[in-house]
Amino acid sequence: MKLGRAVRPLWGLDPDASYLNHGAFGATPLDVLEAQSQLRALMERQPLRFFVDHAPVATREAAAELARFVGARPQDLAFVCNASEAINAVLRSQDFRPGDKIVAVTHVYPAVWQTLRFLADRYGVEIELVEVPCPPDADWLARLDEAVTRARIAVLDHITSATGLVLPIAEMIGICKARGVQVLVDGAHAPGQVALDLPALGATWYTGNAHKWLCAPKGCALLWASEEGQQGLHPGVISHAYGQGLAEEFDYTGTRDITPWLSIPAVMAFRERLGGDALMDRNHRIALEARMILMDRLQTIGAGEAEHVGSLVSVRVPRSAGSSVEDGVRLSAAIWHEDRIEVPIFCHADHLWARVSIQAYVELDEVAAYAEVLAKRV
Ligand SMILES: Cc1ncc(COP(=O)(O)O)c(C=O)c1O
Repeated sequence: MKLGRAVRPLWGLDPDASYLNHGAFGATPLDVLEAQSQLRALMERQPLRFFVDHAPVATREAAAELARFVGARPQDLAFVCNASEAINAVLRSQDFRPGDKIVAVTHVYPAVWQTLRFLADRYGVEIELVEVPCPPDADWLARLDEAVTRARIAVLDHITSATGLVLPIAEMIGICKARGVQVLVDGAHAPGQVALDLPALGATWYTGNAHKWLCAPKGCALLWASEEGQQGLHPGVISHAYGQGLAEEFDYTGTRDITPWLSIPAVMAFRERLGGDALMDRNHRIALEARMILMDRLQTIGAGEAEHVGSLVSVRVPRSAGSSVEDGVRLSAAIWHEDRIEVPIFCHADHLWARVSIQAYVELDEVAAYAEVLAKRV
C-alpha cells in the first residue's frame, strides 16, 4: 500500500496542515474510532450486561492480542489508561524506606520526574540521574553501572521523550540486573515504533502506550510485569479484585470507559492493513532520511546517532533561536500558526531540540518544508 499523503484521509487530521507530532498524543484512524463507537453503543445498549458479562471476557481477549504482539503471556499483561498510570502503580506499590535510591536518566519524562519527586518527598527516597549526553557518549553505560551499584530500582526510558533516542534497553536492563536492581522500563513510545519481545528484555516491569505509535484510541496502554514484579503490585485504584492478581486487579478499577482497550483488535487490523511490521520499517527509513535533511539544512547535530533513531528525529535548534522552554514553545507555536506545521520544540540540557515524528501519513517533503521554515526563523 502506498503510504504518506495517500493514506492521510484514513485519519481525521487537518488536511491543510502538516502534523509531524504523532509522538505527543498519537492520532487515531477513523476506522478505529468507528470500531470504538460501536463498542460504546454496545455499552450503552445494556450497561449492566456490558460491564458484567462482556467486558471481562473482551478485556482478556484484547489483552491476549496485545500480549501476542509484545511476545508476552496474557496473564502477565494488564491494560492501563496511560504510561503515567502504570508508572505510578508500580512505584507507589513499593514500600520505600528513607535512603532507598532510584536511578533514572537525564532524559526522564517530566511527569515521571514529578512522580519521583513525590517519592522523595513522601519516603525520603534518593534520586540519581545518569547523564546521557546528546549524542550519547561512549561512557554513559559505565556511569549507569556505577549509579545503580547501590540502587533499589532503576526507571529507564526505552525511547526518550524530548530527544527521541532509542536507548539500548536490553543492555541497560542487563547492567541493572547484574547489580540486583529491579527495572521499570518507561516504553511510552515503544509499541509500534520498535519491535518488542518483553519477556526477553528481562525487565521487572515494562509499560508502553498503545495510543501513541499503535494509533489506539486515547487511554490505551500496557503494563507488563515479570512474576517477581507482580508480587505486591496493585493498581493506583484498589477495587473489588484486590489481591486477586495482576489481570483481575487491573482489569476492573471502578466504572470507566474501557472501549480504548477493547479497540485493540481493530487497532491491530488497521496496522496490518498498513503493512504491519513493514510500516515500522518504512517509518524508520523515512526518519533516517528526515534526520539528514534537518541536519543539513540547519547545519546542526541530531540528538543521537543513526543507531538511536526509531520513528522520532530530534535535532538541535541553532542557538540563535534561544535556549529556554518559553523560546521553544513560542517558536513551535509561531510555526504552527503561520506555516501550519506542527512540530514540538523542547528544551533539554540547555539547548532547544525540534522533534519530528514520522508516522504512516507523513511524507518526506513535509520534513523538508519544515527544515526550510525553521532555518529561516533561526
Ligand atoms: C517517555 C514518556 N514517558 C511517559 C509518558 C507519559 O505518557 P502518558 O501521557 O500517556 O501517560 C510520555 C508521554 O509522552 C513519554 O514520552
